[in-house]
Amino acid sequence: MFQIEPETSQDSYEVEWLYDTCFAPGREALSSYRLREGVPRVAELCLVARDENDIVAGAIRYWPVLVGGTRALLLGPVAVHPTRQGEGLGALLMNESLHRARELGWHRVMLVGDEPYYRRFGFSKLEGVEMPPPTNPDRVLGIALQDGAWLGVAGEVTRFL
Ligand SMILES: CC(C)(COP(=O)(O)OP(=O)(O)OC[C@H]1O[C@@H](n2cnc3c(N)ncnc32)[C@H](O)[C@@H]1OP(=O)(O)O)[C@@H](O)C(=O)NCCC(=O)NCCS
Repeated sequence: MFQIEPETSQDSYEVEWLYDTCFAPGREALSSYRLREGVPRVAELCLVARDENDIVAGAIRYWPVLVGGTRALLLGPVAVHPTRQGEGLGALLMNESLHRARELGWHRVMLVGDEPYYRRFGFSKLEGVEMPPPTNPDRVLGIALQDGAWLGVAGEVTRFL
């Protein structure tokens, strides 16, 4: 069983440790990190999953961004500790946070990731949405939380300041 709660400042060290464990070294050089610099996270959507021993098993974070000047959520990073992968925790964090985002009135979410994983949550390739280089356009994915929310939304992804 996992306990899922919004991330607090006391969780941050363990969450960073989890991300360092799950991603290749140099993850902070990725273009998506440029969009996060100096921008506060969307605190209500950043979730931490702890196991029965109170150990951090998974985490997900979100930032606000602008897509051609229109507000969107940038999902990520999401990670599950290698010893807990394949138990559905990734799906739990995705579904719970997307549900909360919809409830909070957000219209659209984007991410950079593997379409074969994210399509099960309703994500598909976004046309004309340009992440800072170098980003493979096939990995730029989105989901509409309100009907038609991505229609006519395109252009450069920039920091929300
Ligand atoms: C991606 C990740 C968060 C999934 O968490 P998880 O708890 O293992 O996911 P779930 O248990 O909900 O789902 C597991 C399923 O997803 C599949 N899956 C995991 N990563 C995948 C990927 N990159 N592409 C396609 N399928 C993937 C697994 O094969 C498994 O498939 P199955 O249900 O057919 O057996 C986790 O594997 C992870 O932390 N990976 C390293 C970090 C990472 O790549 N994060 C995402 C990029 S931001």
